[in-house]
Amino acid sequence: MLITGMSGFLGQHLIEPSEVAEWELLSPTKGLLDVTDRPRVLDQMVSWTPNVVVHLANRRDDRETIVDGTRYVAEAAAAAGSRLIFLSTDLVFAGRDRAYVETDQPDAPQPYGQWKAAAEQAVARAGGNSLIIRTSLLYGTDHQALFQRDVAAVVGGRSDMRFFTDEFRCPAHADDVVKAIIALADRPDVTGVLHVAGPRAISRAELAGIFAAQIGADPKQLPTSTSRESGLDRPEKVVLDSSAAARLGIHCRPIEEALRN
Ligand SMILES: NC(=O)c1ccc[n+]([C@@H]2O[C@H](COP(=O)([O-])OP(=O)(O)OC[C@H]3O[C@@H](n4cnc5c(N)ncnc54)[C@H](OP(=O)(O)O)[C@@H]3O)[C@@H](O)[C@H]2O)c1
Repeated sequence: MLITGMSGFLGQHLIEPSEVAEWELLSPTKGLLDVTDRPRVLDQMVSWTPNVVVHLANRRDDRETIVDGTRYVAEAAAAAGSRLIFLSTDLVFAGRDRAYVETDQPDAPQPYGQWKAAAEQAVARAGGNSLIIRTSLLYGTDHQALFQRDVAAVVGGRSDMRFFTDEFRCPAHADDVVKAIIALADRPDVTGVLHVAGPRAISRAELAGIFAAQIGADPKQLPTSTSRESGLDRPEKVVLDSSAAARLGIHCRPIEEALRN
């Protein structure tokens, strides 16, 4: 299994479970395999010929990494005959009350979501055996996500950040998404797009409260605001319907359960 972006948040969660699953891992750093270096990506992929490529490499502010890099990885994986699993995001959608299913068309208003949607198209066009997993806000236990560190900074008096009561996502524990990746690596019959996210839409303020309580603080003391008041133009409610994944036996635990274990 070749993993791009292994040093990132999700990649760190993937190391141990993929070793337990007895995958032989290739996890080149960006220095060794920059996904925007097309000839090198093709050359390395064809010489390594991994069974599966898990493409996590990402830079939120960089179209070239997201769109071009993903296209190069997808084309190279197709040329090498490798199955590709590409991680995408709920932010390909603009937000609405109703949950999104896999067949809904991306309509992101923001560049990041538009670039990830373009990357998804590049994966589909490359023509190999591929699966696009869309997930939502990720959190962790041993490795903490940026949002968890933001909450700790506010609780510790090192930040005056406010948490939005009107921005809803379906947060998922990174360990659950990693489990899904490993299970689906072995399922070449599962292709296209699959939503793998938490079972409940939670506001950022509620989520921050859960993380605050976990470190012994009073959730009610956390400062809140709304994304509207802050003038940020971000999707308010993006709910991924993960029932297709559930039919394959793939589940993300409710946050209270995931943080207890
Ligand atoms: N984290 C979330 O909440 C979340 C939610 C939804 C979807 N996802 C998706 O999950 C995937 C992984 O996210 P993440 O949070 O683990 O990302 P991350 O922590 O930002 O890590 C990104 C990784 O990509 C590497 N990278 C950046 N540019 C590269 C390049 N040109 N060539 C090769 N490697 C490069 C980085 O290496 P350096 O550190 O050396 O730059 C790092 O290892 C992404 O596709 C993201 O869209 C994440």
